[in-house]
Amino acid sequence: MTRTATAHPNIALIKYWGKRDEDLILPETGSLSMTLDAFTTTTSVTLTEGAKDTFHLNGRPASDKEAVRVAAFLDLVRSLAGSGQHAAVTSTNEVPTGAGLASSASGFAALATAAAAAYGLELDARALSRLARRGSGSASRSIPGGFALWHAGEDDESSFAEPVPGPELAMVVVTIDAGAKAVSSREAMRRCAETSPFHDAWVSSTQAMLSEAVAAAAAGDFPRLGALAESNALRMHAHINAAFPPIRYLAPGSVAAFDTIASLRRDGIEAYATADAGPNVVGLCLPQDATAVADALAPLGATTVMGPGEGARLLGQTLPDAAGSPGATGAASAQGWVSA
Ligand code: PMV
Repeated sequence: MTRTATAHPNIALIKYWGKRDEDLILPETGSLSMTLDAFTTTTSVTLTEGAKDTFHLNGRPASDKEAVRVAAFLDLVRSLAGSGQHAAVTSTNEVPTGAGLASSASGFAALATAAAAAYGLELDARALSRLARRGSGSASRSIPGGFALWHAGEDDESSFAEPVPGPELAMVVVTIDAGAKAVSSREAMRRCAETSPFHDAWVSSTQAMLSEAVAAAAAGDFPRLGALAESNALRMHAHINAAFPPIRYLAPGSVAAFDTIASLRRDGIEAYATADAGPNVVGLCLPQDATAVADALAPLGATTVMGPGEGARLLGQTLPDAAGSPGATGAASAQGWVSA
């Protein structure tokens, strides 16, 4: 039996940067993001009689590192399902290597949705978000569509993302450098918590900003939300720069992108900037200003305009002999197909 699911990446407006439990992936603070309508990940999970799991990514056997991470996630799903059966996982990821967007959020959201169904787990959207979280923290926010609030929670049970209201928003990513980052976010988060003198300030100010940002999003107050998002991103990078040995993700071109966005604001265009753990920058703006923002950022790198996208979805069951070609026969949202 094959189960196939799709999911999209998300970009955080208020960032997740720090774990208080590395095994359960419980974050130190909550975070707020928007799931995108671009770059679909499609993942099929087929239960097999094989002696181990297999993982093919974009038509090729995945690297050992990727295969180990997927097998560890499947172990978790098997433990929840009480199953000892291995699985064949095939995934296609539309995130172009040059897009400058991480693929782990859409990857684990799609894998959690497909694997839960393949192993017969009846999970609602909240439980799926908790499960996706265990693969990659930010994946918890790709289970809901549109704006998602990931509650830090007290424990495994209460740390999940759910949809929240927000304004009409476009995001314009500019690829400053498509190369892999020198320090993984897992390692960088750990080093920040252990060595940055700004750690406590980061945690307390992010918690305060999150409440304000959720209220601004619900009120449809884009300028307030954008200003909070830009400030929160720069605080995260200040915290990262303050680690020892220091880590610096932003490149000269990234700083130029923040300057370009600031100059657009001086010209009367409501635009703000954010950046994750890498040099690429995402401009936030109203949909009608997306072309102007993309044109302004274009000298710095390739740009892609994105809007709000749907959450993870389970597609209709594919035939057993169609494993690896994820043809859909129907679709239901994560909220729709599951028992509440
Ligand atoms: O989910 P991870 O472990 O790849 O961490 C992602 C962290 C940031 O992208 C930098 C911020 C965020 O909230 O997405």
